[in-house]
Amino acid sequence: SPWRATVLTLFPEMFPGPLGVSLAGRGLASGLWELEARDIRASATDRHRSVDDTPAGGGPGMVLRADVLAAAIDAAEIGQDLSKRRPRLLMSPRGRPLTQARVVELAQAPGPLIVCGRFEGVDQRVIDQRGLEEVSIGDYVLSGGEIAAMALIDACVRLLPGVMGKEASGTEESFSEGLLEYPQYTRPQLFEGVPIPQILTSGDHAKVAAWRRAESEALTAARRPDLRTKAPNQTSGQKTPKS
Ligand code: ADE
Repeated sequence: SPWRATVLTLFPEMFPGPLGVSLAGRGLASGLWELEARDIRASATDRHRSVDDTPAGGGPGMVLRADVLAAAIDAAEIGQDLSKRRPRLLMSPRGRPLTQARVVELAQAPGPLIVCGRFEGVDQRVIDQRGLEEVSIGDYVLSGGEIAAMALIDACVRLLPGVMGKEASGTEESFSEGLLEYPQYTRPQLFEGVPIPQILTSGDHAKVAAWRRAESEALTAARRPDLRTKAPNQTSGQKTPKS
């Protein structure tokens, strides 16, 4: 059965959203992956269907209730094949930063259950009791986990067999090597008086490869020295990118 992302959210109407178009959307429509958005509120039990409450100890905002979220997780996992353990993720700015390496793992594992946080947070007991892995998509705060979940799903889906054609399949290769992509150009040959770098139109494939490698290394050193430490052959410039 195809890779499936199950999303637990208070706003299921936000899905598929951007995952319904372009590369991910075509893969979804053709059954290469599946998306299940489930409403956390469907697991509320009281008369007012409440999902949140005031924080213990005081303070601003509201906290997602442990009992409601645990029930939503358990309901989502009913009838699930016990032999395949799906990763249980919680999108949160407190989480471990998402990396391409983790994306590759998630794309190869059984599709994840993804909880989208809201309000000032989620009761810690459900995080602990259900073993939720907190994942951040960056050091900034979104108003909820939904957009973060979409980013994570998109990054996984493009790696699934058949979703991406040959196009751009090299981009994460260099990225997971710890290098940023080199600059790209296409026609017209002259744009506002600025030509395409001559080496790219020279037809000398070895020179093109060396130029691109050097550009990647310079860009990485300038913008992301933290990534650069991971790159093999940092100084040799010998490595030819795989087509
Ligand atoms: N929810 C709110 N902000 C987030 C972030 N940066 N990453 C993941 N989930 C979030």
